[in-house]
Amino acid sequence: MRAKASDMHSKDCVKVAVRVRPFNKRERDAGSRCVVSLVSSSITIQDPRDSQNRRSFCFDYAYWSHSGFTRNHSGLYVPEELGGRYADQDCVFQDLGEGILENALQGYNATLLAYGQTGSGKSYSMVGYGPNKGLVPKLCERLFQAIRGNEENRQCQVFFSMLEIYNEQVVDLLSRASRTPAGLRVREEQQRGFYVEGLRTVPCESAPQVEQLMEQGTRTRTTAATHMNANSSRSHMLIILQLKQIFSKESITKQSNINLVDLAGSERQRSSGSEADRLKEGTAINLSLTTLGNVIRLVCCLSFLSLCFISVFRFSPLLSSSALADVAVGKKVVHIPYRDSVLTKLLQSALGGNSRTVMIATLSPADICYEESLSTLRYAERAKRIQNRAVVNESPTERLVKELKAENARLLQRLSRLGQEGRRTNEETKELRQLLAHNELQIRAIQTLWEQHLQEALKDWEQQYANITQERRMMQMHPYILNINEDAQLSGVVKLFIQEGEWDMGLIDSSPRSISIKGLGIQDRHAVFRNEQRRVTLTPLPGSKVIVNGNAVSQTTELQHLDRLILGSNCTYLFIGYPSERGGDDWTRYDYDYFQSEVAAAEGIHLGESSAGSNQTDPSLLAVFYNYIKLMPMVAEANQMSQELNKGVEFKLEIKNLALSDSKGHDLEKDIVVRVTSKGSKQVWMWSKAKFVNRKFLMEDVYQQHQAEQSADNTVQGLSAVALPRDKDPFWDPVEPLLLGTAHLWLQSLAFRIPLEEQLEVLGSEGTEEAILQAQLIPCTSSGLPLGEDDILIDPSEILGRRLDFQLVLDQCCGLRWIREARNRGVQIGFRLFDCSQPLYTPAVWHNVNPLLDHRVHFASLHTSQRLLDYLQSSAVVLELWGLQEGCAHLTSSLEAVRMTAEGIVIIDESGPAETATVVSGEFSGSVRALQQDVEELKSVNASLRKENHSLREQLNSARNGGEGVRGRSVRPSCDAEFARSLKVFYHSMTSVRGQLQRLRRHRPSEESDLLGLRLFVDEQSRLLRDFSEQLEQSVSALKQDVAAIVRRKRERSGTWS
Ligand SMILES: Nc1ncnc2c1ncn2[C@@H]1O[C@H](COP(=O)(O)OP(=O)(O)OP(=O)(O)O)[C@@H](O)[C@H]1O
Ligand SMILES: [Mg+2]
Repeated sequence: MRAKASDMHSKDCVKVAVRVRPFNKRERDAGSRCVVSLVSSSITIQDPRDSQNRRSFCFDYAYWSHSGFTRNHSGLYVPEELGGRYADQDCVFQDLGEGILENALQGYNATLLAYGQTGSGKSYSMVGYGPNKGLVPKLCERLFQAIRGNEENRQCQVFFSMLEIYNEQVVDLLSRASRTPAGLRVREEQQRGFYVEGLRTVPCESAPQVEQLMEQGTRTRTTAATHMNANSSRSHMLIILQLKQIFSKESITKQSNINLVDLAGSERQRSSGSEADRLKEGTAINLSLTTLGNVIRLVCCLSFLSLCFISVFRFSPLLSSSALADVAVGKKVVHIPYRDSVLTKLLQSALGGNSRTVMIATLSPADICYEESLSTLRYAERAKRIQNRAVVNESPTERLVKELKAENARLLQRLSRLGQEGRRTNEETKELRQLLAHNELQIRAIQTLWEQHLQEALKDWEQQYANITQERRMMQMHPYILNINEDAQLSGVVKLFIQEGEWDMGLIDSSPRSISIKGLGIQDRHAVFRNEQRRVTLTPLPGSKVIVNGNAVSQTTELQHLDRLILGSNCTYLFIGYPSERGGDDWTRYDYDYFQSEVAAAEGIHLGESSAGSNQTDPSLLAVFYNYIKLMPMVAEANQMSQELNKGVEFKLEIKNLALSDSKGHDLEKDIVVRVTSKGSKQVWMWSKAKFVNRKFLMEDVYQQHQAEQSADNTVQGLSAVALPRDKDPFWDPVEPLLLGTAHLWLQSLAFRIPLEEQLEVLGSEGTEEAILQAQLIPCTSSGLPLGEDDILIDPSEILGRRLDFQLVLDQCCGLRWIREARNRGVQIGFRLFDCSQPLYTPAVWHNVNPLLDHRVHFASLHTSQRLLDYLQSSAVVLELWGLQEGCAHLTSSLEAVRMTAEGIVIIDESGPAETATVVSGEFSGSVRALQQDVEELKSVNASLRKENHSLREQLNSARNGGEGVRGRSVRPSCDAEFARSLKVFYHSMTSVRGQLQRLRRHRPSEESDLLGLRLFVDEQSRLLRDFSEQLEQSVSALKQDVAAIVRRKRERSGTWS
């Protein structure tokens, strides 16, 4: 293509628009706040955790589509009131679509990109939903209108192509040929730039034809997504409209490409450092989007540099020799990585090249999407700095026609001259006539090519139209099932009719009475549909997975209108009954999330009754719930792939309680993990969500490769895809120690120098009892000798500034579930105290369900600070039970950062004696706080006793001689010892009260509980509560009685003496 000289130096910045969509169901459920505001074309986003942190951005256009709208009688979303701020589809088209159309009609290439996180409204803006048509269909309507309106001065041809890029493979969405596993090739030609070889381009003459082609493309996308088990939100969809305009009068032809790109969801794959996976991130899934980001960053940098250079150079010619200048004037070539991905190759002209480009960045204004929305705005800001050099294009084909026509005219002239002169021979005339005929043939061939293509397309179109009409007719006659996809854009595309009689449903489609469904976990014959007397039943065949309305079924089940079916691992369909049952209902509420929530509910995972739909739901719980329903189908698919590829591993979702590692024992946040078990060796791995999602994409790669090998009729056993080397196998990982559970050993007794011996329950992430651990805390001397009763402190503050020594003893572990399950395993206990930067571990013990640990660590604080005292009074040491498996390395304590004496005493609390107190955490639970109050009261009683004691001693001293003073001195220690003893009894009983409290906290109804079960649970719960409060009261009143008795005794004694 050749550029018009006059346009050579025109520069256009990429135009950028942002659009804010309404809250979706998740965001409404979470009671989300809107953190985005718009004023004119500037947008401000506020950090929900820090109201002072606001960022404003200014774009060419900003659309508020979040609120102030209503749905009119034709289903269109329009502003609530005339002139309202809500930007509807028409409004967006007026600004962006009309501009693109105008550019294309002038002969410029034009590109429209939609960028944003998954579910932010890219497809809504680009393609639209139902009557709310998006930019692409509207653009096509207006394009053909414009073509018809200008028929007298130009002849136009429109070619339509539609493709998808998934995992760096290009799929022609309009191709009639079967899909090649490697996809289509992207090639480069000097004149054409990058193009997709063999991509089908269909000539179109009207907007309905284009819409029908888009429908066809979407159908291909849907089937590909189900068959290949791919996530469409991770694919890029490109529509290419080629417009040719022939201005016969002016002998000019203009040709422009309009690229309309619905990009994959932009969310970043979060894999935090500690979770970084051994295998690199989801292969090429993110490559195109990452490269697009890099290209935009570099191109925008270059555009910026050249701008800077021009303005700086004007004032400072000295700079002309700098590197910056070299880049700016093109002396240094900056490599822009267009070639690194398929998407950037195809969009090369749109980004810094020959195209007028518009980007629409879509975002959610919800607080929970803040990070992603901010990142979208930053991306958009960069894009707006890109400068393109768009030129009007002239088509080589039309130039050729022009040249041929000119040559013919010359030949004709020569011929007529020959006739006049009559001097030439017959052969010469014949030769010229032949040349003339050949040229005319060529012209005709070129001109008829378009018509031929058009005829073919028309035939196709008629066929498709007949199919659509047939489908509409069938919809009015028969019940059917309708596909529901994770990407709402692909839902409702496939309709499978269940006519009268019996129908086999499954992979096999050879029988005339079969309904073909392809997808993971679908068997050749999966189930049977029977439609008799206007009743439809579904009978699963042995071994097949069928879920109806969230529950697995194995018997014949009668289907009701709008029943939800999940076939195989995750093929989701909605059953639509006979038209008489339909009653104009809107099935869109049965979206993908609805299907998955139903399955989760059947497993006992749901948002509580009271919280659903209200603003009360705890956002972190909601996030766990949505993570769970997002991962659930992925886990089912991973299990199916593992089974088909004979990987022998099983995946299971678990909700991990993060409270397990909280030293205050609070029931804090929960998270989702995937437990991976090797069925043969019983080895276990725990994968984080990010790691599992990454692995799942890698598994899909392996699985698709395996399928391709199978379809190529590869009969060799042990196919390459299955027999991957271990280090490349996404189903495998080296074994690692596994955190099985934790137990809390409370430290409060140490503050009083009271020894403690405990039998602790080690609880797993789901509240299961993993083991019983016998542990002791023994206050001791610096040489390790246990302290006696007389060393018990009545007032813990006495320890401040003094040395405190104690030993943590781990005696034995009993009933280890981990080892009971498989004897070839071992365990270690890990713990970390106060400021210790490193955890300490016991030596590993193997093959024993009740291993003796006999592990003793001596800790000392040289100058006990208020902070340490507060810690002892309010915290527990978290004892972590680690499971070891054959082949995994033991956990070792890294002692470099731990301060130790020559005798092996671990020093804690390094702070000096002058350190001031920090505030004790206010999170202490109610009952513990009440206990502390009691302790305070006891302290004040103690203080008054001391005072009384003191005055008594003075009285004695003054009344009697020195010898009797000895008797007097004996009063105090005996009283204090009595008091210390009762305190010790009290703390022992408190330990059991605390255990009772923990049991109460963990006590939950069983997942399968019915009403009766729940009633029993409530009874049990109240019994436990009763026990708890009785025990608490008894302990406190025993202590009060003891104290009262001590006081009484003391008064009596002093009475006798006085
Ligand atoms: N401006 C809007 N007005 C009303 N509804 C909207 C708007 N934008 C998006 N939605 C709704 O939000 C949902 C998600 O939108 P959409 O499918 O366009 O997201 P997407 O960005 O294309 O996501 P993906 O990356 O998964 O393809 C759809 O149900 C859509 O109807
Ligand atoms: Mg989309």
